[in-house]
Amino acid sequence: MSIIDDCKIIQLPTIRNRQGNLTPIHSKIDIAFDIKRIYYLYDVPGGASRGGHAHKELQQVVVSVMGAFDVILDDGKNKKTVHLDRAYYGLYIPKMIWRELDNFSSGAICLVLASLPYDETDYYRDYNEYLRALTK
Ligand code: TYD
Repeated sequence: MSIIDDCKIIQLPTIRNRQGNLTPIHSKIDIAFDIKRIYYLYDVPGGASRGGHAHKELQQVVVSVMGAFDVILDDGKNKKTVHLDRAYYGLYIPKMIWRELDNFSSGAICLVLASLPYDETDYYRDYNEYLRALTK
């Protein structure tokens, strides 16, 4: 089973020049899994929180490509909060980690690289159900 210490910050490649910066991301080179889906969160209202679920199989890398937000990670025993505010840092989240995202700065954009297509049956959206699954 995954623990919060498995959630790691990955330094993504950065190509810098006077015209600005560029970060390329390759499946299985810059991140460990094959990217099957990309989505992004934006226009998040002040005070809103996102997430509030865990995934049975899905792995993700979360990047703050603009602005900043916090990711609260929980493995059912321990919690930690990771502040993301750089476009060249990705937070790897393995399966079976409960996560919440909050404290979005104005204009923040959260890019998510996902190992699987969207599948609602892959979610635990009820925290007690998630805790029960951990003990099975
Ligand atoms: P959800 O995963 O709960 O978003 P967040 O974790 O950011 O709070 O998804 C919100 C809604 O969007 C939910 O109805 C499912 C839908 N959705 C898709 O249709 N496709 C996707 O790839 C994702 C991530 C969500």
